[in-house]
Amino acid sequence: MTTKQPEKVVIFDTTLRDGEQSAGAGLTTQEKLEVARQLDRLGVDIIEAGFAASSPGDFEAVKAIASEVRRPVIASLARCVPGDIDAAWEAIKGAEKPRIHTFISSSDNQVLNLLRKNPEEVLDMAVSSVERAKRHCENVEFSPMDATRTDMDFLLKLLEAVIAAGATTVNIADTVGYTVPAEFYRRIETIKKKVPNIGKAVISVHCHNDLGMATANSVAAVMAGARQVEGCINGLGERAGNAALEEVIMAIHTRKDALGVYTDVDTRQIYRTSRLVSDITGFPVQPNKAVVGANAFRHSSGIHQDGVLKSRTTFELMDPKTVGWGGTSLVLGKLSGRAGLRARLEDLGYQMTKEQLDTVFEDFKHLADRKREVTDADLEALMASQRRTVSEPVTYTLEHVQVSSGNHEIPTATVRLTRPDGQSVTDAATGTGPVDAVYKAINRIVAVPNKLTEFNVNAVTQGIDAIGSVTIRIEKDGEVYVGRGSDTDIIVASAKAYMHALNRLLAITGQAQLGAAQPRIS
Ligand code: KIV
Ligand code: ZN
Repeated sequence: MTTKQPEKVVIFDTTLRDGEQSAGAGLTTQEKLEVARQLDRLGVDIIEAGFAASSPGDFEAVKAIASEVRRPVIASLARCVPGDIDAAWEAIKGAEKPRIHTFISSSDNQVLNLLRKNPEEVLDMAVSSVERAKRHCENVEFSPMDATRTDMDFLLKLLEAVIAAGATTVNIADTVGYTVPAEFYRRIETIKKKVPNIGKAVISVHCHNDLGMATANSVAAVMAGARQVEGCINGLGERAGNAALEEVIMAIHTRKDALGVYTDVDTRQIYRTSRLVSDITGFPVQPNKAVVGANAFRHSSGIHQDGVLKSRTTFELMDPKTVGWGGTSLVLGKLSGRAGLRARLEDLGYQMTKEQLDTVFEDFKHLADRKREVTDADLEALMASQRRTVSEPVTYTLEHVQVSSGNHEIPTATVRLTRPDGQSVTDAATGTGPVDAVYKAINRIVAVPNKLTEFNVNAVTQGIDAIGSVTIRIEKDGEVYVGRGSDTDIIVASAKAYMHALNRLLAITGQAQLGAAQPRIS
């Protein structure tokens, strides 16, 4: 009797393309590079770095990732138009393994209403675009957009034609999250059976989550023979998002018995990747989110706690360590030394040079003075704020913030910032509350009008001494800028978050004004 060897499922990450399309997730090139480096550590096979033709910023980011991140395939999206395909190639040609990913609508609905063309014209555009991409690059992916609402006969004909033109991957996109698992299974099965040259291409799937079935649909497709799955970390993506890659990866890992496939992902990097993406995009992970939510491995009911104490497997499907979560009873505090901190951070997936450790250790000591126990979640917050200090644009630096408020006081704040020219500037303002007063005082110095559209505070851990993490969004000229800050004092965290958002705004728009309100220079 011969046993069937498990086959590999290629993991295609589109956090930096479809994920970045999520409202208000605009990232800088540096931030995208950081996410790409972490996706490389995670071991995804393909990183879709962006949509090169969509803007000069996207082009630069794709190019930067292509030249720096060498192990995975680097893809750029392109519509089926010559200019897009050439721009995609220009951006990725420096990659070790480049891929052009071209797409066009294939459903009657989109062909008629969006493109205002007929299916034959779409077929011609698809074939000529794949041929053009192929002249640049061996590795070409073609996506029929809205494939799950596309007439089956037309879909089969289109797929056969693009494969004959040289497509090496065909990506069946459930663009509006319309399909259901059994139906999607049958669609993939039919494609496998009826496209005569399907053996020359990998079948991929790209599922959106409008009905909450993106992961289930992706897994059903794998069961039917798809061997590439596209998705985003934390389920980011257009509207309700894409399939959450961490869920697909862990479903494949945990249910090898049912699926008979594997991925090359280092699952221990999942938690860290999720936190990095959340921190950079400013989209918090909901506590009950599968695999990476704060409650994903927490047991609260008595029966469950009793079971887990007797044997973890009673109510725990996955070992949290498999996704890089927790895994130690070692608690750090103010007596902990460098070695303990390094060991803990290494367990969490952070490798550091001696110099990096020195800086982190200083911040850690500062935190441990204010907090009895420093948990993994605190360390993650500390590393996130380190990352922001080291790798993000800093035009103005927050030196000092002080507030006075109370039920019979007018909230008043004094702030001191260092300006881009190195001078220290102090100013003060009153507001409706302490945070409002701080923001107004900062505005008097930075003098860049903007609108605060979102303000969120979360406690990183439990307890009165918990670190507060603040996420804000500000808007200027229709563009959104995310800012994050954390501190045991939420007013300080709020000030840090505002400075973070303002510095990003100044870096992206290229303006660094020196203050219009003649503040005091100290
Ligand atoms: O959802 C979709 O159809 C897409 C394509 C560009 C693959 O994102
Ligand atoms: Zn999509």
